[in-house]
Amino acid sequence: MQRYFGKTVVIKYGGNAMVDEALKYHFAQDMVLLKHVGINPVIVHGGGPQIGGMLNKLNIESRFYQGMRITSAETMDIVEMILSGKVNKEIVGLISKSGGQAVGLSGRDANLLNAEKLTIEGEDIGQVGDVTTVNTSVLDALKDFIPVIAPVGIGKGGQAYNINADIAAGSIAAALKAEKLLLLTDVEGILNEAGERISSVTLNDIHDMTKRDIIKGGMIPKLKGAIDALSAGVSKVHIIDGRLKHSVLLELFTDAGIGTEILNG
Ligand SMILES: Nc1ncnc2c1ncn2[C@@H]1O[C@H](COP(=O)(O)OP(=O)(O)OP(=O)(O)O)[C@@H](O)[C@H]1O
Ligand SMILES: [Mg+2]
Repeated sequence: MQRYFGKTVVIKYGGNAMVDEALKYHFAQDMVLLKHVGINPVIVHGGGPQIGGMLNKLNIESRFYQGMRITSAETMDIVEMILSGKVNKEIVGLISKSGGQAVGLSGRDANLLNAEKLTIEGEDIGQVGDVTTVNTSVLDALKDFIPVIAPVGIGKGGQAYNINADIAAGSIAAALKAEKLLLLTDVEGILNEAGERISSVTLNDIHDMTKRDIIKGGMIPKLKGAIDALSAGVSKVHIIDGRLKHSVLLELFTDAGIGTEILNG
C-alpha cells in the first residue's frame, strides 16, 4: 500500500461492470478504503447499458460508430440525464453508504473537460466530443473528497458533448499525471482471436490487432485513452475485469496479474 501513498489512481468504472448490485457496493467500499489509506482515487464512469436501457424505453434506437454512440441532440439530453443524474449520483450514494465522501461532477463543471466535436474518418456522429483540454483545478480543490466524474464535456459555447468514458478517463489521468489508469470492463481484459486473455500488450500490438479486427467496438476507445495516458507519463494502464469482486484491490495490491497491462512501445 505504501507504494501508492499520496498517489492518484484514475479508475474508469464501466457501465457494463456496474449493473450487479453486490459488485457496485463492493466497488464503492474499495474506493473508500483507498481514500482511507492515503491513495487518491478519481472515478470516471461510463453508462452504456443504462443509456441504452432508457433510449429503449423511449423507442430511440442506439447506434454506434467504432464504439462511439452516435448522439443526436435528443439523444444527448438522455445521455446527460442518465450519466450526470442517475449513474453519477448512484455511485456517490453508494460511496456515502460505505462511509466515504464523494462529490459528483460532470466534465461540464468548472470546465473540467473542455471538448470539441469529434469526427472520425469524416463521419458526422453528432454531439460526440473529443477532449481538448482538462482543467483540473476543481479536482485540486476537492482533494479531501472522492471525485466521481460523468464523461460529459463542455464546448466553447457551453454546450454538452458526449465523451466516451475511456477517453475522458485517459485525458484526466494524463492531466493529473496519475500513477495508474485502471479501466474496469465486462471482459477479462483484451482477448486474442482465440478469446483468451492477453496479460500484457504494447501499443503496437494493439494497433495491429485493431487493423485485424480482433480489437473492435467498445475496446477501441480504451486504446485511445491508454495512448493519451501513457504518452503523458502515466506509468501504468490496466484493463481489468470489473465483474470480479474487489478487482481494483486485486490489481493494485497483489501480484495476481489480473486483466491486461498496456505498455508503451
Ligand atoms: N479484443 C477484444 N477483447 C475484449 N473485448 C473486446 C475486444 N474487442 C471488442 N471488445 C468488446 O469491448 C467491450 C467492452 O467495451 P464496452 O464499451 O462495451 O464496455 P465498457 O467500456 O466497459 O462500459 P461503458 O461503455 O458503459 O463505459 C467488451 O464487452 C467486448 O464486447
Ligand atoms: Mg465503453
